[in-house]
Amino acid sequence: MKRIFALVLAALMAVTLLVSCGDDASSKAKVIDIALSEESYAFAVSKEDEELLGKVNEYLAQIKDDGTFDAICDKYFGEGEPEKVASAALDETKDQLVVATSTGFEPFEMVDDKGMFYGIDLEIAAGLAEYLGKELVIQDMKFESVVTSVQNGQCDIAMAGLTITPAREEVVTFSDSYYNAAQVLIVPDDCTDFDECKTVDDVVAILDALTTENKIGCQAGTTGETYILGDLDKGDEGYGFKGIPAEKMAYDYAALAVTAMLNGEIDYVVLDNAPANAIVKSINGD
Ligand code: ARG
Repeated sequence: MKRIFALVLAALMAVTLLVSCGDDASSKAKVIDIALSEESYAFAVSKEDEELLGKVNEYLAQIKDDGTFDAICDKYFGEGEPEKVASAALDETKDQLVVATSTGFEPFEMVDDKGMFYGIDLEIAAGLAEYLGKELVIQDMKFESVVTSVQNGQCDIAMAGLTITPAREEVVTFSDSYYNAAQVLIVPDDCTDFDECKTVDDVVAILDALTTENKIGCQAGTTGETYILGDLDKGDEGYGFKGIPAEKMAYDYAALAVTAMLNGEIDYVVLDNAPANAIVKSINGD
């Protein structure tokens, strides 16, 4: 009897052990933590709006200097509590700061189910509007429309984890940079393709060996898309990416690309590092 009890106990312990290891086994995706690019985020204003550009740079310098910028970043990368930001309705008769963004890009821009905005860029937007003495309006759109909306005067400023690129510099003016970012790969958790990779060259060698049978996802209109397509043909106007010889699959939102990967529709996703880590963390449920 004692023996049976001991056996049952041992079996139970084995099951418990398996279940606790199972935490890891239930992870769905992972980030390959090797930077594929070097990028800087900045805000973008119309080429004609030198006055706003000056004030944005003034405000950025002030919040970098007085600790406000670090305090905002700490809320999202550290333990702090994000502050929700409300958007007023667009009203041309009022003195408003109209911000173009594209939510679903954690930790830079998010929206909750009550339509309240939060994220690093949008907390800065709220501070900037106050600094300018204007009412804040947030226009949430597909990322592809963000730069165009500033270029054609629909919005005053793009605040969207926006990378400074030569092609965008042709159509809008960038503020001083506030964040350094990189493209990284998101792969299924059980993917071993990059296990031996130590450097960016190791990763690129694997990507170079892909064919049109492979599919790589990205958010439409982003530098991730350009990374997959390559832009060496654009010369000085390009970012200098040689491209990946696989099929590019563009989605309106980064999370949709990751979902497609989890459904087995595409192999990998190319995305900015901070959102990649945030999305993977949330789908793995940790
Ligand atoms: N940094 C990348 C780019 O500028 C991606 C930005 C995506 N931003 C967003 N809010 N969805 O192309």
